[in-house]
This record gives sequence, C-alpha cells and structure tokens, in this order.
Amino acid sequence: MKIDEVRKIAKEKYDKSDYHYHILPVVKNALLLADKLKADKEVIEIAAWLHDIGRAISRNDFEKENEHHIVGEKESIKILNKLGYEKDFIRKVSHCVLTHRGRKEPDPETIEAKIVSSADAMAHFDTFLDLFRFFLTTEESFEKAVIGVEAKINRNWNKKMIPEAKEMVKDKYDAIILLIKNMKQYF
Ligand SMILES: [Fe+2]
Ligand SMILES: [Fe+2]
Repeated sequence: MKIDEVRKIAKEKYDKSDYHYHILPVVKNALLLADKLKADKEVIEIAAWLHDIGRAISRNDFEKENEHHIVGEKESIKILNKLGYEKDFIRKVSHCVLTHRGRKEPDPETIEAKIVSSADAMAHFDTFLDLFRFFLTTEESFEKAVIGVEAKINRNWNKKMIPEAKEMVKDKYDAIILLIKNMKQYF
C-alpha cells in the first residue's frame, strides 16, 4: 500500500529520537482526533507523518529549519507525486504540512489541517520530558529551560489546539503547569 511507503519514508528520514518521541505521538493523536471528528483519516495520517519532513531534510541549516513548513510542503508534494497520489489529495495533505506551525502563517483552513496542527501540539504534552530535554540542551541555564518550556506549552495550549484536543490532554497540561509553577517558586 502507498501509505506504507509514506511510513517507510518517515522512518528513514527523521532522526531516531524525533521519530519516536515526536512523529509517532503526532500520528497517534492525529488519528484519535480524526476518529472523534469524523475527518479524512488518510489525509491526516499522511500529513502527520510528513508534517516535519522539511525539518528532517534541512537538519543543521537554521534558516531552512525555521521555514520547515514551506520546505516540507514542497517535499511532501514531491514525495506524494512520486507515489502516484491524485492532485486533489496531494493538495489536501500539503495544506496540512504548510499550516502546521501555529506561530507561522498561513493558518489551517480545513478540519484535517486543524487536527494535524493540534496533534503537533498534543505530542508535546504526551512526550513532555523529551521537549524539556530539548530546552535543556538549547538554553543556557536550567532556569531558562524551565521558563522556555513553560512558554512553549502555554503557546501550544492557547494558540494551536482545538477544544477537542485540549480536552484529551488536559490532565497532562495541568500536571506540567503545576510542576513548573512549583519549581519556579525557588528561582
Ligand atoms: Fe514543525
Ligand atoms: Fe512537529
């Protein structure tokens, strides 16, 4: 099946920890939301596998990584064309890839794109410790990492998630915010 080819490409292109701790939870949460909202599961699963492909293929190139939604849109179109998907289907998937960021324009317009963008945020709640690990390696102090990860989690919660997504990870959001608030009293 063509979708197996997409899964294979994802497994090959993402680095190991990105694949396990980000891409897999995005796919899982996207499919849960797709069921809940009766959206197009094939568009959603393929878009979830490919949403960060632009980041995977421009590793160590900060500018390209920063524009990875645009790089990813082009790469997704290329991959899906090669696999023989129909133009209309490709358009639906590439719209999800282009609009998954939340912080960057354009905004998601379809329910499928809103689901992929929400699932991208949900993954950060699901594998929060991996997100925190990332902040620890990029920020110059432990305190800055805690403050940075708190801002990211709140941005995701406030700007990227549809209500159904929030409902699904509310317990994790509350737990994360509680632990961060508790830690910050000693800063
Ligand atoms: Fe991304
Ligand atoms: Fe992502």
